[in-house]
Amino acid sequence: MNNTLILLAACFLLLPSHSLAQRFTTSPAIERKIDSLLALMTPEEKAGQLNQYSGDFATGPGGNFLRSDHADMARSEKVGSFLNVLGSDVVRRIQHIAVEETRLHIPLIFGYDVIHGYRTTFPIPLAEASSWDPRAVELSARVEAREASASGVQWTFSPMVDIARDPRWGRIAEGSGEDPVLGSAMAAARVRGYQGTSLSDPTTVVACVKHFAAYGAGEGGRDYNTVDMSERTLREVYLPPYKAAVDAGAGTVMCSFNEIAGVPSSVNRWLLTDVLKKEWSFEGFVVSDWGSIRECINHRIAPTSDGVGRAAMHAGLDMDMESNAYLGLPRLIASGTVPLSEVDESVRRVLRVKYALGLFDDPYRGCSAEREKKEILSAENRAAARDVARKSMVLLKNDNAVLPLDAAKAASIAVIGPFGNDKENMLGTWSSLGAGSTVVSIMEGLKTAASPKSRITYVKGCDIEGTTTDGFAGAIVAAQNADVVILVVGESRGMTGEASSRSQLDLPGVQAELVRAVAAAGKPTVVVLVGGRPLVIGGILHQATAVIEAWHLGVEAGNAIADVLFGTYNPGGKLPVTFPRSVGQVPIYYNYKSTGRPFNDSVHYTSRYFDLPSTPQLPFGFGLSYTTFSYGTPRLSVQKITANENVVVSVDVENTGTRKGEEVVQLYLRDDFATVTRPVKELKAFAKLEFMPKEKKTAEFTITPEMMSMYDLSMKKVIEPGTFTVYVGTNSVDCREAAFEVVQ
Ligand code: NOJ
Repeated sequence: MNNTLILLAACFLLLPSHSLAQRFTTSPAIERKIDSLLALMTPEEKAGQLNQYSGDFATGPGGNFLRSDHADMARSEKVGSFLNVLGSDVVRRIQHIAVEETRLHIPLIFGYDVIHGYRTTFPIPLAEASSWDPRAVELSARVEAREASASGVQWTFSPMVDIARDPRWGRIAEGSGEDPVLGSAMAAARVRGYQGTSLSDPTTVVACVKHFAAYGAGEGGRDYNTVDMSERTLREVYLPPYKAAVDAGAGTVMCSFNEIAGVPSSVNRWLLTDVLKKEWSFEGFVVSDWGSIRECINHRIAPTSDGVGRAAMHAGLDMDMESNAYLGLPRLIASGTVPLSEVDESVRRVLRVKYALGLFDDPYRGCSAEREKKEILSAENRAAARDVARKSMVLLKNDNAVLPLDAAKAASIAVIGPFGNDKENMLGTWSSLGAGSTVVSIMEGLKTAASPKSRITYVKGCDIEGTTTDGFAGAIVAAQNADVVILVVGESRGMTGEASSRSQLDLPGVQAELVRAVAAAGKPTVVVLVGGRPLVIGGILHQATAVIEAWHLGVEAGNAIADVLFGTYNPGGKLPVTFPRSVGQVPIYYNYKSTGRPFNDSVHYTSRYFDLPSTPQLPFGFGLSYTTFSYGTPRLSVQKITANENVVVSVDVENTGTRKGEEVVQLYLRDDFATVTRPVKELKAFAKLEFMPKEKKTAEFTITPEMMSMYDLSMKKVIEPGTFTVYVGTNSVDCREAAFEVVQ
């Protein structure tokens, strides 16, 4: 068995044979138990169930974040949940107090941000989305759940599914990019991975889809900023991934910090109750984001904690994370300011999730030091992380087929750049308990993979930030003395994530100058980009011989990158987000509207910038391979249909090269004319297929009525008669076309 086969075999063992999650639903038996419990509870005990407190980061890292007063809090029943209180011993200790030393013995639920790994850090979510491989992403979430649940985590604040069209926003790294269909596939995959087939399985954790809603659309890409958009755009572009996560069974939802069209999500009854709970039939509970109820005072919704707490309760926000806004509920109930029925409904929802998790039967859910030892950073989990990391890279350029490197010819390799020997930054943002010490650096990965005869040297060249170019001379000499240069540049992990918006999208510091200087040495130069957002890379694409977008890949970064550089693995990732030519083009995305003056770079009065081509640097869906693929013309099963019929699209795809490889075949649709304007094209389906050299396959997609539908003027979903254009191709621009018509 070769290396690749072993890795894949190891990974599949981690997934259950069928991993279809079901919608989160309650049952008459559970509702009866909740009725009995509610009948016994005092208003204070009810308020406690709706209150969540955090552990103390000051007692970390690697610690359990426990504060001296947590035990008393649990005893006082003023808390229904903790976040950031970790470790099987600590969770057991605090949970024991809740279930043994309180009047009603109601278990706590322990939550934590397990975003892309608990201790075995996987690639950041934006990277994982580049795999266009929901099964790989599901596997990653499954591993995260196994590790976290061993440590007493029962609830993860993931998936983060916010659509992001603005790469200045630092949290773009935590999501799946700009597209609702790709984002929905990734959202559902993560929920399936976290929750498995049943939440009663103690190796699962309950998912929390966030941040509801449209958190990624803050003005100017600034975190927490105002969002103002039409209900049409909200429903067409931003809401689908949250809905997909709910449909896949997510038991909880976190509301967002931002306002939408004048109403902060925390107090937005239309969003939390009318859309989520009524229209989508969501039966789980909604938690606030950190302090987001209190922040409604800053939004100037009301001047007091009671005022914003009351508005949040009425909106349908069930649990308060760290605002202390719900502890006053007993008083507000007594004065008639808050109806008891609203509080009861929220408590019911919280208890539902606790029942579904089996916490009333086993409040510890099998967390133990033995399980922690067995699960955390196991060889199996690392193998899974390596496989997902390989799938998450995107090959952006490969002139003269410089990649994969020929180990025999590349006797001397110069690794240059501030990330070439780095561990910590490979973890990316929100890496939970991931530790730099567990990371395989790129240097380490290359040394393990290269022929023992290869000479691999490392020169830093410059810092990530700063202005000094003192290290350039050494870098240039190293390049001159090498057969090939691996230049590793990009962004540190702190440059993306929460509160890490940037106003520029260039490489920080003097890194772009380093690339220019090293490439000028004339040796084959492979740039490996690390980071958590699309950067402006026109210069690099021009100067380098090959470019790989490697994002922040997690603990196995170095091994995975070496696999790709040496061709043990043929990269097949595709960009989940458009790369702009300049920050001034932002927001730029593939599913834009035509306008009345569609851009034409040679016509003055059209919708464009006069100082820049209108196209992006790299389009959504773009990604190369070490082999090549050719596409036939799409064939349709019918040319004319009525509105309730399907169209089957078939397209022949051939591996025209000499290597085995994977291709993501993408299907886009355009509603040619409609009563409301429609995007120029929209991704509707995709399939990642593996091809042997010279192999030809037929990809088949079914275009369903749902895919042809749109919201009409009264926001009803309809299919209007008329023609549709079908695009099938290797990215959102390079497509072959066909057409069909919907008749009445
Ligand atoms: C704030 C972040 O916005 C959210 O994503 C996270 O889950 C909470 N803090 C809890 O850590």
